[in-house]
Amino acid sequence: MDRVRLIDKDFGVFIAEKEIKEKVEALAGMINTDLEGEEVVFIGILNGSFMFAADLYRRTTLKSQLTFLKLASYSGTSSTGEVKKLIGLNEQIRGKTVVVIEDIVDTGRTLEDISIQLKEQGAAMVRIATLLLKPDAFRGSVRPDYVGFEIPNDFVVGYGLDYNGFGRNLPSVYKLIT
Ligand code: XMP
Ligand code: MG
Repeated sequence: MDRVRLIDKDFGVFIAEKEIKEKVEALAGMINTDLEGEEVVFIGILNGSFMFAADLYRRTTLKSQLTFLKLASYSGTSSTGEVKKLIGLNEQIRGKTVVVIEDIVDTGRTLEDISIQLKEQGAAMVRIATLLLKPDAFRGSVRPDYVGFEIPNDFVVGYGLDYNGFGRNLPSVYKLIT
């Protein structure tokens, strides 16, 4: 499928399934090497990262746990700018090495919030893996450590990312056709 229609908008394929798969393997390889010998808590940020988190996590070989937290700062196709709290953290992360798994980093605001809250909870080290980064929109001070693809400021869906809840099941990443 080169083109899909979700609700009222058309999207064209942007990063193909195979490219994503190769990149996810490469990122997992880097994490395995960098964090060798450490015990890690992977934290997927819901909802968008569920697919990336599953694929990345199954390629990791570290002694680790995986959990998911919820935090939303986006509605429709433009950032709302408001900050939300991390919810659902039951695992003990005090003194632990944490790897946050994000679908996309846009302005970097969300990442900053997450990072601050995890450090408040006592995480010893917080690393961040994101499938996508929009460098032209990024204004944050917390940079992701592992980036799959740098992309322009287009709205993207697929592979977990949504347009008003739709499109998460697409195996490739699509961008809005304007
Ligand atoms: P910030 O600006 O805080 O935004 O880095 C990160 C969050 O915004 C969402 N986001 C998107 N979601 N397509 C989406 O489906 C996009 O192109 C997009 N850009 C940002 C996403 O939830 C991310 O966690
Ligand atoms: Mg979203």
